[in-house]
Amino acid sequence: MRLAVFDTHRYDREALEKTNAHFGHALTFFEPRLTLQTAKLADGFPAVCSFVNDKVDAATLAALHGGGVRLVAARSAGYNHVDLEAAQRLDIRVTRVPEYSPHAVAEHAVALVLSLNRHIPRAFARVRDWNFSLDGLVGFDLAGKTVGVVGTGRIGRVAVRIFRGFGCKVLCYDVAPDADFEREAGVAFVPLDVLFAESDVISLHVPLTPGTRHMVDAAALARMKKGVLLINTGRGALIDSRALLDALKAGRIGGAGLDVYEEEEGIFFQDLSGQVLQDDVLARLLTFPNVLVTSHQAFLTHEALANIAETTLASVMAFEQGEPLVNEVRAEQVLRAPPAAK
Ligand code: NAI
Repeated sequence: MRLAVFDTHRYDREALEKTNAHFGHALTFFEPRLTLQTAKLADGFPAVCSFVNDKVDAATLAALHGGGVRLVAARSAGYNHVDLEAAQRLDIRVTRVPEYSPHAVAEHAVALVLSLNRHIPRAFARVRDWNFSLDGLVGFDLAGKTVGVVGTGRIGRVAVRIFRGFGCKVLCYDVAPDADFEREAGVAFVPLDVLFAESDVISLHVPLTPGTRHMVDAAALARMKKGVLLINTGRGALIDSRALLDALKAGRIGGAGLDVYEEEEGIFFQDLSGQVLQDDVLARLLTFPNVLVTSHQAFLTHEALANIAETTLASVMAFEQGEPLVNEVRAEQVLRAPPAAK
């Protein structure tokens, strides 16, 4: 099937082309993100492949539909960038990659914890400048500390096991607590306000839904332990970035490791070096010595890219052959949990 792939980077292209050798789709790669302005590029294609910072809203979907698109194959786990209700109204099917490597994301979250706690980026910059002093680089033992894992789905569970391996006490919060997992992993499910209040490290692994947007707001930050390390590899808008800025300025937060950012669309995945960064909140966040931002790269391992390519191209094949779309997402599936209790 002819597939228009948007927001393509070299690593996507390599993985998709390699996997496509046994599917035989006709892939056309476009560098721009999929938005209303770029939807025209997909005219004549029955299917498009989108990524997390595309803007597949009602207007984009209408334009895609006008050009003949009937399938949006998201090559991501999250699908908050797609207006599912509008897609259904237009009879455009939407698929995603529910699981490609929970290890990739969980391991990146842990990498952020270790890098922040042991000041690895600062240490690296120092020794490159032949500054071998250690002042300001004191961290803490993770063993014995309390880690709060918010969201115990595929990724959260891998993160839990890694932190348990470090000898941490792990508190979990999820709308659907799992007593078997609790027992087997030796963790405790607690209310979110307890997790916020008692954790030395907090790692977010819930999807972005109306119920989780800004689950870390000013009130939540005020409840956290002074010196907490806050890690977000979920979605940027789980955290109110302005409230985080205030908490960082007040010295209440020990460190923030952010692989995702509320307003990352149009910034992350791009080389903007040599340009003036227009986002004042992100620019300010990048000035803190205890903030580490990565550009939505938690998924970026060879294993994850291969699995993403396989599942995405299999969905396109199933669509082409009129088979059931096992990885379809529909509007009624979106979990509309009440705002997470704090
Ligand atoms: P999952 O669906 O396996 O797990 C999500 C968990 O969150 C479930 O246990 C669910 O019950 C829980 N949950 C949902 N709404 C909640 C609420 N309101 N309050 C508390 N818990 C709630 O998803 P998975 O695979 O673990 O991924 C989690 C998220 O990680 C994705 O939705 C995506 O946004 C993000 N992600 C980020 C990546 C990156 O590169 N930074 C890559 C892949 C995923």
